Amino acid sequence: MQRANEDKVVIVEVGPRDGLQNEAAIVATEVKVELVKRLAKAGLHHIEATAFVSPKWVPQMADSTDVMMACARASELENVTLSALTPNIKGFEAARAAGAREVAVFASASETFSHRNINCSIDESFARFRQVFEAARLAGLPVRGYVSCAIACPYEGAIDPRAVARVTRLLLENGAREVSLGDTIGVGTPARVKRMIEAVAAEAPLSALAGHFHDTYGMGIANIQAALDAGIRVFDSSVGGLGGCPYAAGAAGNVATEEVVYLLQDLGLCRDIDLEQLAETALWIADVTGRAELSRVTKALTGKLRR
Ligand code: HMG
Ligand code: MG
Repeated sequence: MQRANEDKVVIVEVGPRDGLQNEAAIVATEVKVELVKRLAKAGLHHIEATAFVSPKWVPQMADSTDVMMACARASELENVTLSALTPNIKGFEAARAAGAREVAVFASASETFSHRNINCSIDESFARFRQVFEAARLAGLPVRGYVSCAIACPYEGAIDPRAVARVTRLLLENGAREVSLGDTIGVGTPARVKRMIEAVAAEAPLSALAGHFHDTYGMGIANIQAALDAGIRVFDSSVGGLGGCPYAAGAAGNVATEEVVYLLQDLGLCRDIDLEQLAETALWIADVTGRAELSRVTKALTGKLRR
């Protein structure tokens, strides 16, 4: 597993999961696997490949076992941390059997979002997660945690940073190796992100935190800079800015990985990712999924302006 430090930022590529989960047309399993391989070839070493969730809730992730098995078997992905979302023990068992190298539980700082997203309260979700933490400990698999609605909830509005801090602490106390703070609907601004991180950092070590920003209002990169300034050194992003959340209407994709890499390379914080190859991958997946939108970095690097 890669480690972040003062001179290095770790990127967790979530395009194959957070990115594709919101695509209306089902993307073929082979395409998903090929996407993971291309991302790894571009230098990404931590890739959230799929989600072991109910296919009735998120049909796009119905092939999670096939995707994970194919990735886990691929020799070119040997050194990649292949992770997957697992909301409960059923998801965990399937992820482990398919060869996941890390699992992620996803909690929420908003009660309403917790119900809409995983059909239970925050407390009930922790009862489920504890089973996952225990099984993962026995299996020797690391667990990552998410806190959704770290800035605001699509149903409740602004979220008190103290609620985010509480859920983060709970995840860490239960054994999460890292907690990713999700601006699920992408309404954050640098000032709000700074306030939220300060509140969380009062209860949790900065080295155990990651930032997960959606780009709905175009603040993704500004928010990453604010989080960098606050001391965060791990960021989730999605190639091409793919994605959204099926339970957060209107939310755009994650901040585009190629934009994050462009920023970080200039700061000397990211040396091992091939930006051009990443932009080519963004272009390829946009073509395959029929997506018209490209990130500005991809447009600039590939010279293929489509508008
Ligand atoms: P439920 O209906 O309450 O679950 O859903 P249940 O235990 O009552 O089971 C109902 C059915 O689901 C049963 O099947 C189970 O077997 C099945 P049936 O008997 O009806 O045929 N089931 C499962 N199937 C596959 N995998 C499983 C699983 N568990 C039960 N793991 C559940 C509860 C959590 C399963 C459901 O609500 C769910 O799958 N939700 C998924 C939500 C989701 O994936 N949301 C998007 C990801 S979160 C996100 O995007 C935010 C994030 O990016 C961070 C950020 O941006 O903030 C992470
Ligand atoms: Mg997300």
